[in-house]
Amino acid sequence: YQKGVKQLYENGEVLQRVPKKYIFPPSERSSTNKEEPNVAMQNFQLPIIDFADLIGPNRSHVLQSLANACEKYGFFQVVNHSIADEVVRSMLDVNERFFDLPLEERAKYMTTDMRAPVRYGTSFSQTKDTVFCWRDFLKLLSHPLSDFIPLWPSSPVDFREVAATYAEETKHLFLTIMEAILESLGIKESNKEEETEGKDNILKDFENCSHMMVANFYPPCPEPNLTLGMPPHSDYGFLTLLLQDEVEGLQIQFQGKWVTIQPIPNAFIVNVGDHLEIFSNGKYKSVLHRVLVNEMKSRVSVTSLHSLPFNCSIRPSPKLINEENPKR
Ligand code: SIN
Ligand code: FE2
Repeated sequence: YQKGVKQLYENGEVLQRVPKKYIFPPSERSSTNKEEPNVAMQNFQLPIIDFADLIGPNRSHVLQSLANACEKYGFFQVVNHSIADEVVRSMLDVNERFFDLPLEERAKYMTTDMRAPVRYGTSFSQTKDTVFCWRDFLKLLSHPLSDFIPLWPSSPVDFREVAATYAEETKHLFLTIMEAILESLGIKESNKEEETEGKDNILKDFENCSHMMVANFYPPCPEPNLTLGMPPHSDYGFLTLLLQDEVEGLQIQFQGKWVTIQPIPNAFIVNVGDHLEIFSNGKYKSVLHRVLVNEMKSRVSVTSLHSLPFNCSIRPSPKLINEENPKR
């Protein structure tokens, strides 16, 4: 199991059954909730934020939608985000090719050391999980970028270059979204005065933030209803930017139900993490999500996780606390 579910899948040629290690208890599976079938919300749509509107006369309207999405869904999709389609496509593509490499090549990065700057792992935590998830992943620390690039995989030959460009662009997009989020919370004013007051605000801290990227690979699964690609969890940071290929799998909790997020090509799915929930004093929600697997197709996704530096403590913004809103 330690070599990953991809290897297990390939060794078994056509795996007929899900091995015991991967079978979740019935209460945690995707299909057991009979009164509440997943089809109930098949046409669920996440709020879509059109980023082009953020720089135009519609900014205040977009900020309103952003606030609404963060309060009610904890998730939104971003279109017209200014990262070129080519950059987005190459990142998915190079990771697909990485997971396609022979085991010896991927094994170079296999370690159980959670702190390793580059780590190929399987499940969630292969040392602690009692049930394993149907997922392999490659985790890359990405800030400071130039320190870490030389440690990233050198195969496929274009891996470092593609991933480095992607890291820079997602960091930039994160900062732009974070600025809009702070404005939507009323923490950062849009006027120039704030800037001349000196940038001793939180936005400056984010320029030196923590940044980690995780590429996920979910092989086809013979009995997809017995297992999960990822168990229900929330993300730790401020924001996660997620790219998924055209195969669906991601589900989020919405009004007590699991709903599937339909992929939009080249769009980013953005979600609020625990740190932003804390920072916003509970106004913006870090929402549970999970990943289902597919019987026929493999699925690749890439997440980009952003927060303050790892040694920082996170607390509610003093600007959001007053008599009506005590610190939660
Ligand atoms: C996640 O990282 O929580 C979701 C990843 C995915 O959709 O594959
Ligand atoms: Fe997540």
